[in-house]
Amino acid sequence: MNQIISGFSKLSKDDKIKLVTSKLSDPSSAENLLKSYWHRYPEVQKLLDEFSENTLTNYFIPYGVAPNFLINGKFYFVPMVIEESSVIAAAANAAKYWASRGGFHAQIISSVKIGQVHFIWKGDYNKLNSVFNELKFRLKDETQHITANMIKRGGGILDIQLVDMRHEIEDYFQLKATFETVDSMGANFINSCLEDFAQILKDFIANHPAFDENERDCRIIMSILSNYTPECLVKCWVECDLPELGMFEDGDTPESFTWKFERAIRIAQVDVNRAVTHNKGIFNGIDAVVIATGNDFRAVEACGHAYASRDGKYRSLTTFSRTNNRFYYCLTIPMALGTVGGLTSLHPLSKFSLELLGNPSAKELIMIAAAAGLANNFGAVTTLVTKGIQKGHMKMHLLNILNHFEATEEEKNKAIEYFKTRKVSFNAVRQLLNEIRDNRA
Ligand code: MEV
Repeated sequence: MNQIISGFSKLSKDDKIKLVTSKLSDPSSAENLLKSYWHRYPEVQKLLDEFSENTLTNYFIPYGVAPNFLINGKFYFVPMVIEESSVIAAAANAAKYWASRGGFHAQIISSVKIGQVHFIWKGDYNKLNSVFNELKFRLKDETQHITANMIKRGGGILDIQLVDMRHEIEDYFQLKATFETVDSMGANFINSCLEDFAQILKDFIANHPAFDENERDCRIIMSILSNYTPECLVKCWVECDLPELGMFEDGDTPESFTWKFERAIRIAQVDVNRAVTHNKGIFNGIDAVVIATGNDFRAVEACGHAYASRDGKYRSLTTFSRTNNRFYYCLTIPMALGTVGGLTSLHPLSKFSLELLGNPSAKELIMIAAAAGLANNFGAVTTLVTKGIQKGHMKMHLLNILNHFEATEEEKNKAIEYFKTRKVSFNAVRQLLNEIRDNRA
């Protein structure tokens, strides 16, 4: 174990498995386990293998759907990939609840993405600024080989600015570019443009007559898109008249429920401990859709959390208002997703997800993901302020506990029946199984 391995990636898949499993107590059953998760069609397995490096097998996570999602007047089966037992159930419940109250309303506020070339330059800022339009023209003109197709699809480079960052780091500047990438997430497009920008910038500074000989050296630090896309915003909300909320399971009236709900949202606005958990509940829904459609959930998470702290304090991503007895609950979140490019059409299941959603545009997919996020959060907060989360959560978790104890189908059925009226806990399940097993012995 304690030695550096060279050339691991060059080994065949079988040899990699042999090497890795040789470190375990039972190499042959470990090898069999890994291979049992291979796809039965070798060509599909090859495709999956090639998504990444050093692939040994596939890691299964449930793929489910939440029906009854009414978003901007259209019904969807929303595909969700998630391991947490109660997430799809919560999304489906909230979707059904709101479907009879007008559904989810969603709107894309803006779709601009950002990329930066970070560089260090000891020259005169005013000189560079005075010839910046010339540089900007060249940056756009000399990247036409990359941008032509994107422009045809309605996107491209929107603007490029010179940003003076010398107040932060000595001699530090940025080219800050904004992009529209239409239906693609656009990471490859943006990064390709930026790397060309960097070279064009270097050449420009090295050769332009505006600069002295001692200003010719421009040192590129890096060229990369920003996953912070606060101008790529979606807004998604639900609303209804207060009485339409109906009665809640624990006996809460629309009035008493709304009173608690409003305070729960305000707490998530002001208290970071609650805000993080509140937003986590939003990402339960969003990430599940983002993964099911082959998009990058790390980018979406990082961006969402940065946006949640945009005024210097981490806050809830949702807001609540009650005006003229109208219940209005809204999620506003930046999100950059794609429906073309990347894995979206390459992974057989993300392709399926997109088909299930009616092959949406990127904007439509962003609105769907936001609706899933709002649904999960509404479901979570509603449960929290009414009957409490643990009862329902543990009911959903019951099968996991039963599987942990290797319960048979008969034992599972008995346990499900038994826990219909009782509180689920790890110990209670163990005790019940012991009793069932003792009685049988
Ligand atoms: C659990 O995955 C998510 C919740 O904790 C979210 C919340 O507390 O709002 C239930």
